Order: sequence, then structure tokens, then C-alpha cells
Amino acid sequence: MSPTLALLLRYLRPQRGRAALLAALVAFGIALQLGGPRLMQAIIDVARAGASEDALMGLAAAFLAVVLVKQVLTPLTTWTSDNVGWTAMNALRADLTLQLLRLDLGFHNSKTPGELIERVDGDISQLANFFSQFTLRVAGNALLMAGALVILWSQDARLGAALSVFALISLAVLARLHRIGVPYFKAGRRAVAITLAFIEERIAGAEDLRGNGGLPYAFEQLRALTTRDGDARRTANTIARVTQGVWELLLSGGLALAFTLGAIFITAGSMSLGGLYLVFAYTNLIATNLMQITEQLDDFQRATANIERTSELLSLRSRIIDGPRALPAGALPVAFERVCFEYANGTPVLRDVHFTLGAGRVLGLLGRTGSGKTTLSRLLSRFYDPASGQVRLAGLDLREVDTRSIRARVSVVTQEVQLFHGTVRDNLTFWDNAAQGGRITDAAILRALQSLGLAEWLARLPNGLDTPIAGATSLSAGEAQLLALGRAFLQDPGLVILDEASARLDPTTERLIETAIDRLLAGRTAIIIAHRLATALRADEILVLEGGRVTEHGERVALQRDPGSRFSSMLRTGLIEEEGP
Ligand SMILES: Nc1ncnc2c1ncn2[C@@H]1O[C@H](COP(=O)(O)OP(=O)(O)OP(=O)(O)O)[C@@H](O)[C@H]1O
Ligand SMILES: [Mg+2]
Repeated sequence: MSPTLALLLRYLRPQRGRAALLAALVAFGIALQLGGPRLMQAIIDVARAGASEDALMGLAAAFLAVVLVKQVLTPLTTWTSDNVGWTAMNALRADLTLQLLRLDLGFHNSKTPGELIERVDGDISQLANFFSQFTLRVAGNALLMAGALVILWSQDARLGAALSVFALISLAVLARLHRIGVPYFKAGRRAVAITLAFIEERIAGAEDLRGNGGLPYAFEQLRALTTRDGDARRTANTIARVTQGVWELLLSGGLALAFTLGAIFITAGSMSLGGLYLVFAYTNLIATNLMQITEQLDDFQRATANIERTSELLSLRSRIIDGPRALPAGALPVAFERVCFEYANGTPVLRDVHFTLGAGRVLGLLGRTGSGKTTLSRLLSRFYDPASGQVRLAGLDLREVDTRSIRARVSVVTQEVQLFHGTVRDNLTFWDNAAQGGRITDAAILRALQSLGLAEWLARLPNGLDTPIAGATSLSAGEAQLLALGRAFLQDPGLVILDEASARLDPTTERLIETAIDRLLAGRTAIIIAHRLATALRADEILVLEGGRVTEHGERVALQRDPGSRFSSMLRTGLIEEEGP
């Protein structure tokens, strides 16, 4: 089955009832459209035969009734078809969004958010249009044409045959043009997605761009992109117009054919005036329908391109496959066994990393920028699987573990805390709070903040937990860190990974963070990627990464005492900062 049809059926099946109603409405509409000219034919022939005024009035009334019912039927059909289309599309949109959320970070690294938004929103909106219009116009019109041809055949086989051949040739040309157009429409959509992605990234980075005078260059790039965009669209639109032109030619040919044949039959006496009217009306009907189908062809071409991309996306499988096991409660021991890892570009980032960390121990992870510290933490959250070797928590290879269990038991406080549009409460609980119908009660949040020593900080917020956070930059770096620590604490993890921000903080916030970290780490295993001395000194053990290799691992106190150790040399050369300002 073609992917287009498969996708269509998959999302229409759940609404069989409404789809059937729609089909009935469309069929009734077709019957009315075909019936109108038949009535008119009868009126003409009866009038020419000299029928009574009463009979004529009756026929006229019937004709009027047909027109009236058609007027009521049209909006009803549109409403039903939109309903079916949008229901199907919202289901598809939900599936697609879920799919994107499930796909591994490797996939997301290769796609920009803008590109994905275009897939989930842009492509889908067009598809919805297509779904609702397709049944109505394309399928309906095709049926209408078939009906008209059948009636023409029954009037005169030669006429029916001639117009059928015309319709078939036209359809063949249509299919051919359709196939030519698809790649261009695909390219057009891709160009738009890339431009959107570009704009999205530049808006997100507006502060840095402006601050560093990067705007003119961004504009220059945008100009180049939009030019390419325009080129792609121009080609696609030109093909659509050529299609239309070819069709108009075909149609004129069809009408000429119908009139020539009609004229011959009338002269020969084998056709009445009413019959000629019917031929004219139906040829016109076929003609208009072909026009409409041509217009729909634009949509159809675009939709086919969309559906191909959509089913491609839906068929992708995350490289991270859930295992059956769950992580135990309590502090989790960590083991890296000869782990090698690289991102998609093929440069090794972790090389043969091998170490263990006992439950409840705190490991200070040190190394120059780019040495692989954050990468190591990503493997522990199983955002990626190692290329070789094993990452174990509580003795279990992470590949055997259910990802949900990892998310629940491993908590990461990242270098750059992501804030979301919402209240402090929402940002602490990721919307899983009682106020939004979720699990975590305000009392639990307050208890957590209290335990972290953040009760006063909360009290200083203008509306407490209800204080709105407008987005990424509405809290200071320090406050964002505090919030992230609160998030982690609420999760009650068995392993905490702290990727410390290198930003300098004011002494008050710094002290708050210190206390909060102390409380958070109590009774848990922790890996802290330290940039400041105070944080490094909190560690029981130190592990130094250089270019993705472990070059030192040992008890912190011992390494600190040993003047030949990398750790003590780092302390001397200030690779780790001394106390904050
Ligand atoms: N998503 C990614 N895709 C491809 N390469 C990446 C990705 N993330 C990091 N890298 C590369 O992997 C290497 C290690 O990066 P990582 O972020 O782990 O360093 P780090 O030790 O955390 O540095 P920092 O101290 O600056 O935070 C770097 O060379 C980096 O360019
Ligand atoms: Mg890092």
C-alpha cells in the first residue's frame, strides 16, 4: 500500500462513523448535482413538446428544491469533512510530537528545533487541509465525473466513449505532471524549514548577536537563505502553473469535442435540444471538476511530499531501546567499564574510561573544557549508549534498564539550567504538581525547599511559588541554579550529577547554593563537575579527564597532599578557581 493511503487509513479508521456520514453526504451531493441538469433537460424537452403550464411549474419547483437542498448540504458537508480532517490531524500531530520526544538526542543533534516545529506544525496543518478537502473535492469530484460519464454513455455510446477517452487522457497527463512536481515541492518545503530554523536560532541568540555586533552578518545570511527559498518556491509554483495551463488546454479540447459531436447528432436528428443541453451541462461539469482537481493537485503534490516526510519521521526508531530492569532505591554505585564514545561526527570523545564509584560517594570530575565531562554525565543518564564498554548503575548495564527508571533515579543539574514559561512551582515540578492535577503537593515543595535551606529565598519571591517565570532569562544564573537544585531534590534521586556553572555568583547566592548542594548530596551518590575550589573540595574522590581519557583517579585528600598529582597542580595553576569573589 502506498504510504499516503496507509497513513490516511490509519488515522481515518478511528472515526469510521463520521467518515461514513461524510461519504453519504458527498454521495447525496453528487446525486443532486447530476440531477439538476437532468431536470433541466426534462423541462426543455417537455416545453418543446407543448406540455401544460402546471406540469412545467411542477418541474420548475422540483429544480428549485434541488438547488435549495444543495445550498444546505454544502456547508454541512464542509463542516463534517473539516471535523474528520482535523480530528485525524490532531491525532497525527500528537503521535508525531510524542515520537519526537522519544527519539534519542543523537537525532535531535542533527535537527534544529525550527525544522522540527515545521514538521509538526507546518506540514501537519497542510495535511489537515488535504485530509478534509481530499474526500470532498478529489474523491467527490472523481465520483461526480464518473456519474456524468455514465449518464452520457446512456444517452449516446459514441458521446460517452469520446468524453471518456478525453477524461482518461487528461488523467494520465495529470498523473505524469504530478510525479514531476513532487521533488520540487519537497525541496521548497525543505528550504522553508531551513530558513525557519535559522530565524529560530537567531532569535534565541538575539542577546549575544546584538551584544557582539553580529546582526549585519545574520541579516546577510538570512538574505541568502530567503533568496534560496524564493528560488525553490518559484520552481515549485512554476510547475504548478504549467500543470494548470496544460489542463486548460485539455479542457478547451474537451468542450470543443462535446459541442462538435452534439451539433452532428442534432443535425442528424438523433438528439433533442434537451439532450444537447445535458451534454453541454455535463461536459461543463466534468470541465469544472477537472479544474478543481487540478487546483487540488497543488495540495495533493504538497501533501504527498508532506506525508512522505511525516511517515519517514514516524518510522524512525530511537537508538535508545528500553530494557526491562528497574534501578533499586537508595544511593546508586556507579561503574564505567572500558567505555568509548563518540558523537555522530566520529571524533572519539571518551576513550577507554574505566572507574568505579561506591554508593554514597562524591566524585569530583575535573578536566579542561572539551575533555568530555558533560559527555560522561550524558552517558549516565543514557542519553546516548557507549560505542563500546558498559555504563553500570547498581551493577546493571544501563542498556538493560527501563529509561523511566533512569529518569526517576538519576538527576542532572546541567551547566545551563533551562527555565520554562510558567510559575516557580511549575518550574520546580515540571508541571507534575497538585495545583495542576499532578502528584507533588505544595507542602512537599515547601518541605524540599526548607530542607535545602531555600525557605528564605522562596519567601523573598514576590508571589512565592506562584511567582511567574517568563522564560529562559528571567532569573539570574544563581537563582536558576537554586531552582535546579530544588528540582533535583524533589525527584529524590539515587545519583546526582552536578555540572557546575562556571559563572561567578554573589557571595550570598553562593552560600545558599553551597548549603543546598550539601543537603542534596546527603545519602546519595554524586558526580560533581567542579569549576570552583569549594565544590572540588566537597568530593571524596577526584577523577581527572584529559582528551577523553582518565589520567588520574584517587582519594581527594591523598591527591591533594601529593605535590606530583595532577589535582594538586590544577590547584596551583588555578585551573580550578580559588574562592569566588
Ligand atoms: N552534541 C554534541 N555533538 C557533537 N559533539 C559534541 C556534542 N557535545 C559535545 N561534543 C564534543 O565532545 C567533546 C567533549 O565535550 P563535553 O561537553 O563533554 O566537554 P566538557 O568537558 O563538559 O567541557 P566544559 O568544561 O566546557 O563543559 C568536545 O570536543 C565537544 O565539541
Ligand atoms: Mg560541560
